Amino acid sequence: MTHTAQESPATALPAGVRDDFPILTTLPGPYLDNAATAHKPRTVLDAITRYYTTANSNVGRGYHALGRRSTDVYEQARADVQEALGAAQPEEVVFTAGTTDAVNTVADGLRHLLGPGKAVLVSGMEHNSNLLPWRRLAEETGAQLRVAPVDARGRVDTEAFTALLGPEVPLVALSHVSNVLGTVNPVEQLVAAAHRHGALVVVDGAQAVPHRAVDVRALDADFYCFSAHKVYGPMGTGVLYGKRDLLDELRPPRVGGGTVKGVHATEPVRYVPVPARLEAGTPNVAGAVGLAAALRYLDGLGRDAVRAHDEQLVRYAVHRLSERPDVRVIGAPEEDPSGIVSFVVDGVHPYDVGGQLDEQGIAVRCGVHCASTFLDDLGLLGTVRASFAVYNTRADVDTLVGALDAVRPDVWTNEHPTTRFL
Ligand code: ALA
Repeated sequence: MTHTAQESPATALPAGVRDDFPILTTLPGPYLDNAATAHKPRTVLDAITRYYTTANSNVGRGYHALGRRSTDVYEQARADVQEALGAAQPEEVVFTAGTTDAVNTVADGLRHLLGPGKAVLVSGMEHNSNLLPWRRLAEETGAQLRVAPVDARGRVDTEAFTALLGPEVPLVALSHVSNVLGTVNPVEQLVAAAHRHGALVVVDGAQAVPHRAVDVRALDADFYCFSAHKVYGPMGTGVLYGKRDLLDELRPPRVGGGTVKGVHATEPVRYVPVPARLEAGTPNVAGAVGLAAALRYLDGLGRDAVRAHDEQLVRYAVHRLSERPDVRVIGAPEEDPSGIVSFVVDGVHPYDVGGQLDEQGIAVRCGVHCASTFLDDLGLLGTVRASFAVYNTRADVDTLVGALDAVRPDVWTNEHPTTRFL
């Protein structure tokens, strides 16, 4: 494939973005592991502190002023997420512990759709968090797990995907953006094809939301999941978006406090409507508040500017890496960039590349990126993954590419673990 340089500098973001992130001054070099988790701007940290110092109280339960304030703050965070995703109503936003929790919630809740003679269709690029819940569900219900292949450019093959649909496939689960390659799937087309065949579609948006505005109604996704911590918010919080009528039908995988209207020993339990019905126990209110602050932060920077910045860095990284005869970029992330570039270095195990970059103060992720079945299909032991955020610069890319000069095949920094860092 041909890799061309994107000439315009990544300067569309306001100046001083790096100053928004307190941790950056403590780091020895470029942090390029943003697809694993992004750093948090001060405004997010402040929002979390402000919540605990001015509003901390349980939500939906307290008959006192602080409880009402906390509930208002929590529901405002939900409304902010609704607006960011273009969801029809706030009730379509369920707060979860993260993408993994969101996908598991849907998988558990839709268990009744699968059984012998049925199949769930996933793509060949799925992260374990959007593979294992479906694989286990298929195993437990006697359904089949079908896997749609990925094409040479790193996207789900639409034709092959469509050929795997049918009346026996009530469910489809796929990534919006590959966490391994940063390639973007034609989700709108895939969702439309699935709907024509009567399937519901669950989209893992964990790697999309940090880099592009997502409109769930335009995508027509039935469920859309993402994590706060990859989008500059806190860890331990995520979102399950679902169309209201479908959320209403989900069997809550967990029941408990906050989910019921009334419980009496001899009467059937009466559950409250969604989203509370799907948020058993005390929710992570500060997490939701932090996520809302993160989304506001991105709006303040300008969503278009963020996207342009991240795209330019991917194109520049692909260009610089492609200048090196010892490096091979995997897939074609520059065609529709989404913050991630994966590559291999001739003759050097990805873990050793990662270890030697770390010794030079550069943080990347290396290995199979929680997607070992995809790496198997690619015929790779693993890759080195550089992933970008608003605080990264072209100089970071230059530092990374320059540091590869010092990477040696005969320096083993790890014991090539096959069971660790999966
Ligand atoms: N899911 C995160 C990643 O892809 C951890 O790195």
